[in-house]
Amino acid sequence: MARHETGQGITRATAIARKRWFDSTPVGREGVTERYVVFGEARRWLVDQMDLQRSTDVLDIGSGHGFLTYELASRTKSRITALDVLAGEQLEDSVRGARAAGVNERVSWIVGDGRTCPFRDSSFDAVVSFLALEDIHMIGGNDALEMVVQESCRLLKGGGTLLFADNMFPECARTEAQKLYWTIQSKEFHAGLPSKSVVLNLLRERGMTGLLEEEYDPKINLDEKEAKVELLDVADAKPFAKVIDFASLWKRYGERIILTGLAYPRVLSIIARK
Ligand SMILES: C[S@@+](CC[C@H](N)C(=O)[O-])C[C@H]1O[C@@H](n2cnc3c(N)ncnc32)[C@H](O)[C@@H]1O
Repeated sequence: MARHETGQGITRATAIARKRWFDSTPVGREGVTERYVVFGEARRWLVDQMDLQRSTDVLDIGSGHGFLTYELASRTKSRITALDVLAGEQLEDSVRGARAAGVNERVSWIVGDGRTCPFRDSSFDAVVSFLALEDIHMIGGNDALEMVVQESCRLLKGGGTLLFADNMFPECARTEAQKLYWTIQSKEFHAGLPSKSVVLNLLRERGMTGLLEEEYDPKINLDEKEAKVELLDVADAKPFAKVIDFASLWKRYGERIILTGLAYPRVLSIIARK
C-alpha cells in the first residue's frame, strides 16, 4: 500500500486533497507525488508544534499547491490567508482542492509577494511558511529572504507566533545521502538556503523572542530508479527557465548516487514569538 494511504490521523480534508493530487499524477511519476504529498506528515508535525487553537488569523506565505493551507484549515478553526506570488493553474487547483475538501470558506487566496505583503502591521496571530523560503531565496537571493523575514515580523500581532520550516538549510543535510541531495539542489537548481543562523539572526535583530528549533526526518530514501525519476522531475520543472540536460546531470552524480543513495534532508522548523 502506498504511504499516502496510510498516514495516521490525517483529516478528511487532507485525504481528499491527497487523492485529487494522486488521481492527476502522470503514470511513472507516482513516486515524486508520493514523496511530495507524504511530506504532508511534516506539515502535520508543523501544525502540531504551534498552539494555533487560539489563533484567529493565520498567514501562510508561499502556499504553493495549498497542502499546508489545507492542513491548517482542517486542523484549526482559524481563518487562513494563503499568499503566493504565482497565479494561474497552481492557484486555481489549490482553490478547487480546498472546495473539494470543504475548507475553502475559511481560506482567502491572495496573489502577492511575501517581500511586500498587502496587509497592515499586526494583522496576524501567526505567520507560517513551509518549503517556501527555498523558492524565495532561489528567485531573489539573500535580500529576498531578509525582506520576507522582516515582513513576517511586521505582520505579526504582539504575542503572535512565527514559524518558518524548510529542508534546504545546509544544516538539514546530515547523512551522506542527504548531503548529496542538498548539493545537487544547490549547485544545479540554486535551491540551497544559507545557514539557518542567517534567519535566526534576522529574527533576533527584529526583537523576536523564544527562538526554538525543531527537526523532522521525513525518512525518504531514494534508490537509483527513484532518484532518476526525482531528478528528471526537478529538471523538467526548469527552475529559472534554465534548461538542465538530465543525461549530463546523471553523468555528474549518478555514480555517487548509486554509491551513497539519495535522501531528503531533514525539515528544520524555526519558531519565534513577537
Ligand atoms: C514549494 S512551494 C510551497 C509549498 C507549500 N507551502 C506546501 O506546503 O506544499 C513554494 C512556493 O513559494 C512561492 N514563492 C516564491 N517566491 C515567493 C514570494 N516572493 N512571495 C510569495 N510566494 C513566493 C512559489 O510560487 C511556490 O508556490
